[in-house]
Amino acid sequence: RIAAAPHLSGCGCSRQEAAMKVGIVGAGMVGSAAGYALALTGHASHVVLVDRNAALAQAQAEDIAHAVPFASACVVEAGDYPALAGAGVVILAAGVAQQPGETRLELLGRNAEVFAEVVAAVRSAAPDAILLIASNPVDVMTQAATRMSGLPPGRVIGSGTILDTARFRSLLARHLGIAPQSVHALVLGEHGDSEVLAWSTARAGSVPIGAFADQMGRPLTEAARAAIDEGVRRAAYRIIAGKGATWYGIGAGLARIVRAIAADQRDVLTVSMLTPEVLGVRDVALSLPRVVGAAGVLADLHPELTAEESEGLAASARLLKDSATSLGF
Ligand code: LAC
Repeated sequence: RIAAAPHLSGCGCSRQEAAMKVGIVGAGMVGSAAGYALALTGHASHVVLVDRNAALAQAQAEDIAHAVPFASACVVEAGDYPALAGAGVVILAAGVAQQPGETRLELLGRNAEVFAEVVAAVRSAAPDAILLIASNPVDVMTQAATRMSGLPPGRVIGSGTILDTARFRSLLARHLGIAPQSVHALVLGEHGDSEVLAWSTARAGSVPIGAFADQMGRPLTEAARAAIDEGVRRAAYRIIAGKGATWYGIGAGLARIVRAIAADQRDVLTVSMLTPEVLGVRDVALSLPRVVGAAGVLADLHPELTAEESEGLAASARLLKDSATSLGF
């Protein structure tokens, strides 16, 4: 069911990569990884890195620029907020990162303070830009940025569970012995501990994933499902324990969202957005499958879920709503 698709005019056929200037506020590991992914993939023609630590932004920009000759023609530079003028997308990756063992929601107060300054400065420098939120807890930060910016919800997109969906697909693909691109599976709700792996909607080759696994002689036993769930849900904690933070996966996920916007791809991606109502919870930002194109989010999709999945999604929505409310968003 497409909830609202007024913009879905046009053929939706594949479009040439559009020349897109992308700003990135926060030149730490996530912001710089996104800049690197954009430069290597060519999904942006111009990347500007902004950080209160100007030396860091300059060093990251120069380092990324040295990768460009091997991959694309992207201009990569550092600047202050005025350098964001004309950007079609501005990625907000500013703020503090999770500490080992810390949940994403525990970052909330510290990053909300950072956003109050950043959102105002970005809106002033690039009033036409779509905001792409990366800072955690990304769902509540997406809700906060929507309120702070005054933009329509569809133009404030959170990376949400795009990375969790990728993790789910890659672990399923590894179990099944097929390419991740051939697995269609979704992670919904919070980008965090309460996220829902929508097993009942998972397909490969248009075959329900359980039947596909049986046909491949690699059954998805309860133990296999539990291992995949753990692999997705606890991925960030494991990586943070080993190297202090995650950045490559989210950097590539952010570049993927930019591609959908820059080329008006109208891809269906699990991204976060302030949503009017989800299973009885009103005005909450979380991830659902959404059509993403040049205008931002063009439509929301509400997949058919099992009773258990629906309850998990409703619980995730309630958790996020309570967190946003606790900050006044
Ligand atoms: C992760 C961070 C981006 O899940 O929250 O890797």
